[in-house]
Amino acid sequence: MSQRAETKPPTDAEAGRAAAPPLLNIANIETLYFDRIYALHGLTLKVREKEIFAVLGPNGAGKTTLLRTIAGLLKDQPKKGVIEFMGRRIHRYPPERISKRGIVYVPEDRGLFRELTVKENLDLGCWGRRGKEVKADLEYVLDLFPILRERHRQQAETLSGGEQQMLAIARAMLRRPKLLMLDEPSLGLAPLVARAVYDALEKIAATGTTILLVEQNARLALNIADYGYIMESGRIVLEGTSAALQENDDVQELYLGVGGEETSSKGWRLYKKRRTW
Ligand SMILES: Nc1ncnc2c1ncn2[C@@H]1O[C@H](COP(=O)(O)OP(=O)(O)OP(=O)(O)O)[C@@H](O)[C@H]1O
Ligand SMILES: [Mg+2]
Repeated sequence: MSQRAETKPPTDAEAGRAAAPPLLNIANIETLYFDRIYALHGLTLKVREKEIFAVLGPNGAGKTTLLRTIAGLLKDQPKKGVIEFMGRRIHRYPPERISKRGIVYVPEDRGLFRELTVKENLDLGCWGRRGKEVKADLEYVLDLFPILRERHRQQAETLSGGEQQMLAIARAMLRRPKLLMLDEPSLGLAPLVARAVYDALEKIAATGTTILLVEQNARLALNIADYGYIMESGRIVLEGTSAALQENDDVQELYLGVGGEETSSKGWRLYKKRRTW
């Protein structure tokens, strides 16, 4: 069981959230590598419709494994537990079947066709769709990321890291996801560029797309998220509204870098603190 970040009784927002049926319901999943290395240990998580949900955690916590398990990219995983999307089972289904239900995953490496142009990558995002709607969707993503208009004929591999991330998100949006999953969208980006990507995610969420993102950059993620989980060693250790997490002393010290003096004993102090989750 994870702790709640908020020590007071549930707020109306939290109570309302708890009452709403989850869009994505994950219960007690266990994912293993090579049938013996546990990456997710009985993890439970509920994402509500239209929210931005952030999973935060350090290197090796299992964040990528979580997204890959949901997307069906790890064969025969989760070994145990249940994943339901819109009330229907999706665990251990093939990835195409899961994406058809409306779950679109932007991996950490962005998954672009590097030798194709921006336009070709976007056209592939529209694959299997036709008509006026597609044109309108293309306009929508180009308005979301105007720089992609300027880079239309450029090969994806020649784009900057930020532009590649924007292209990956734009391409994902052309599939009209019900749930957009992103793996560390700010990774390797300069602060201003990361902010621009996050501004776009906020706009996407405002149009009703639910977002599940994993991040090491807690500050950026909690700034736009409605709800968050802190994950360590394959488990959820703390959860709460973004506001409650941002106010939590441990989150401030371990993830937001607030008030932590630089001493050589800091690492040990943090380690001891982690053990108290
Ligand atoms: N393909 C793999 N084979 C074996 N073990 C793996 C594999 N991928 C990940 N792991 C292990 O599973 C655990 C979780 O890794 P994962 O990549 O999910 O963490 P993460 O939270 O995404 O970390 P990071 O912040 O570095 O991206 C780690 O101990 C990792 O070594
Ligand atoms: Mg990862």
